[in-house]
Amino acid sequence: MSFLDRIAAAIAPAATDEQRMEARRQLEQLAVNEPFAQDILDQHRQIESLFQQAREDAGMDAEAIIEELALLLNAHSMAEEAVVYPEISDHSGKAHAGMAYEEHAMTKVQLAALQKLEPGTKEWREKLDHIESAVLQHVYQEESSWLPDVIRYAPMAERQRMSMEYRDYFERVDQS
Ligand SMILES: [Fe+2]
Ligand SMILES: [Fe+2]
Repeated sequence: MSFLDRIAAAIAPAATDEQRMEARRQLEQLAVNEPFAQDILDQHRQIESLFQQAREDAGMDAEAIIEELALLLNAHSMAEEAVVYPEISDHSGKAHAGMAYEEHAMTKVQLAALQKLEPGTKEWREKLDHIESAVLQHVYQEESSWLPDVIRYAPMAERQRMSMEYRDYFERVDQS
């Protein structure tokens, strides 16, 4: 079992596709008047689509797709860390926020390792699969628990500030 798998398994058993779809459906409803959560959901969908494209096209374009994925994940995670995770710490729990920061850091390390491998090789595919399952599980934790807690428990003025700051921060750092 890889390091990422061990961490993911220690946190919680991996969610099924049905659980992930249900969590997303519920968050989409909660996010109707929460632009920061809508931006995060949009970016999660883009991240998933880039993983899928990388898996399906492990040839010439794979390197460019992974580069785009790394840039998007970087901007997304920096905006979450700066604007959203402090609120997760206050309204969902310090342990959740700590886990979230750590998962971002691990993903960055593993993505850098992936970019050193030859696209399409067995090693590359295994690393891509591990990163994808760890990211999907992280996204599930955000969508099923941490973000709903922030929407439910953070005061409206805080959520309005987050919506302005999240988009602004993302746009400043996004190079994808
Ligand atoms: Fe995240
Ligand atoms: Fe996220």
